[in-house]
Amino acid sequence: MSRIAYVDGAYRRHGEAAVHIEDRGYQFADGVYEVIAVRAGKLIDEAPHLVRLRRSLAELRIAGALADAPLKVVLREVIRRNGVVNGIVYLQITRGIAPRDHAFPKVARPIVVVTARRSRPANPKLAEEGIGVITIPDIRWQRCDIKTISLIGNVLGKQQAREAGSYEAWMVDRDGHVTEGTSTNAWIVTGDNLVLTRAAENAILNGVTRQALIEIIHREGYRFAERPFTVAEAKAAREAFLTSTTSDVTPVVAIDGQPVANGVPGLLTQKLRADYLAHIVE
Ligand code: PDD
Repeated sequence: MSRIAYVDGAYRRHGEAAVHIEDRGYQFADGVYEVIAVRAGKLIDEAPHLVRLRRSLAELRIAGALADAPLKVVLREVIRRNGVVNGIVYLQITRGIAPRDHAFPKVARPIVVVTARRSRPANPKLAEEGIGVITIPDIRWQRCDIKTISLIGNVLGKQQAREAGSYEAWMVDRDGHVTEGTSTNAWIVTGDNLVLTRAAENAILNGVTRQALIEIIHREGYRFAERPFTVAEAKAAREAFLTSTTSDVTPVVAIDGQPVANGVPGLLTQKLRADYLAHIVE
C-alpha cells in the first residue's frame, strides 16, 4: 500500500506531497502540530490533542484553520488510506503561504498537512530495562507551552542525547530545575513516594500523556505534586520516568550516567505504566 498524505484539501501520494516554498512553516516555523497515537485502529486521547491544537493556534493567532469536525474526518481518512492500525498520525497547521515578511500577512489561509505512519510497538526492552537521559541547558524560548513546529532547541538536544548514547535529554532552566525532555515530559518519585512533575506553565508542553497520567494518579490516590525539581533531586530520586504519546510511560534508570536508585525501573513507575496502558485500551 503506497503512503498517502493530506495536503491543503487534497490526498496525495506521500512521495509527491509538497507545500509551497513560501509556506510560512518552511520559512519561519510559523505553525503548530500534534502527534496522536493510533492503537488497534483507534485515535488515543484525540479530544485533548484537539483542545491543545486549538490553544496553540489561538496563542499564535492563526485563524480560519479547518474546524474540528472536518479535521477529524481527515485524520480518519489518512489513517484508513495508509492502513494504519498501530502507529501515529501527524497533523501540522501553518499560517499559510505569503511573500516573506516577518509580520503576519494581511491575507493568508492556513495550510493543513496530515500524515500517518505505521509503527511497531516500542521495543519492550525500553520498558523492562529502562532508559538513560542526559541533562543539558534548556536553550529554548519562553513559550514552550505552545506546540509549535519551531523545534530547533529540541532537535539539537535530542541529537546530543543520541550522540551520548542516551534515549533522551532532560533540559534544565537557569535555576537548575528540569523543564522537560526534548519530546517528552519528565517525572520523578521522591524517597517518600511523592510523584513529582513540573506544573504546566510556559516552560513546558502540557503533554496529553501527562494529563492522562495525572488523572490516573488522582484516581489511584498516589501522592502527587506539580512543582519544579532540580537535577540533584532527580539524581537522588527513588524512581524517574518520562511520558509522551510515542513513549507512553518509560522508566528512566540513569541520569548523566548515574543510576537512579539501584538502576532498575521503579515499582510505582511500572504500576503507572500498566495503568496508562490500560487507559489507552479502554
Ligand atoms: N512530542 N514535551 C515536548 C517538548 C514534546 O514535544 C512532547 C510530545 C511532549 C509530550 O506530549 P504528549 O504526551 O502530548 O505526546 C512533551 C511529540 C510526541 C513529538 O514531537 O513527536
